[in-house]
Amino acid sequence: MRVVLLGPPGAGKGTQSEWLKEQYGIAHVSTGDLLREAVAQQTPLGVQAKSYMDSGALVPDELVLGMVAERIAKNDCAGGFLLDGFPRNAAQAEALADMLSEASCPLDHVVALDVPREALIKRITGRISCPGCGRIFNIAFGNVSGGVCEDCGAELVQRADDNEETVGNRLDVYEKQTSALLDYYQAQGLLRRVDGTGAPEDVWARIKEAVSAS
Ligand code: AP5
Repeated sequence: MRVVLLGPPGAGKGTQSEWLKEQYGIAHVSTGDLLREAVAQQTPLGVQAKSYMDSGALVPDELVLGMVAERIAKNDCAGGFLLDGFPRNAAQAEALADMLSEASCPLDHVVALDVPREALIKRITGRISCPGCGRIFNIAFGNVSGGVCEDCGAELVQRADDNEETVGNRLDVYEKQTSALLDYYQAQGLLRRVDGTGAPEDVWARIKEAVSAS
């Protein structure tokens, strides 16, 4: 199965990806995670991407497209994959369509999570992540006791772009550049819109239903 998970910053894409990849046995490809890893390792890509990410802007397509093409060509994606955070604009969506058509591997679903803006800001500013295993926490869930990851013991951190100023910019960028993809995928009959509010488990149940019903 090949799935795109769409939604604004904080909609729960990373959280739901964990369940999606387990349920369907597919690789999780998060462009945000790949870029953060490149920044941490100070690769040439990471050095170029950092200032865009810090300001909440999109990293230029010419940097992102090569990274994605390389990632989805890896063996673990042969049985299917979940794209989290990609595509993010019309040019990326067209480039993805070309990549998949060349490999005769069309998309099966585009799942879009709908969450109101005020809830997104609250979620993002309360997020704490584990740099060790990637698990995502939130202070609102009260499961961050001691500031260490309950799975791997690493010290939990706040993402550099999770401050209120950058979050506003990221949400505006989503509205201006990414939200048009909803119509793009609707026209192709691939869009499954899912209410992203309520408990994460409830959102997951809705996603499963939307995917299995289509
Ligand atoms: P990226 O890492 O993709 O971030 P994002 O799209 O802004 O999304 P987030 O990771 O903030 O949110 P999420 O939807 O995954 O939510 P999560 O599950 O963590 O991108 C970061 C940057 O990289 C971009 O700004 C850009 O610069 C660059 N970039 C990435 N991809 C790019 C591309 N393709 N092209 C160009 N540039 C690119 O949940 C958020 C919080 O809410 C967590 O604390 C979680 O515990 C909590 N939560 C989750 N579900 C619920 C729920 N149901 N109820 C309450 N709380 C919940």
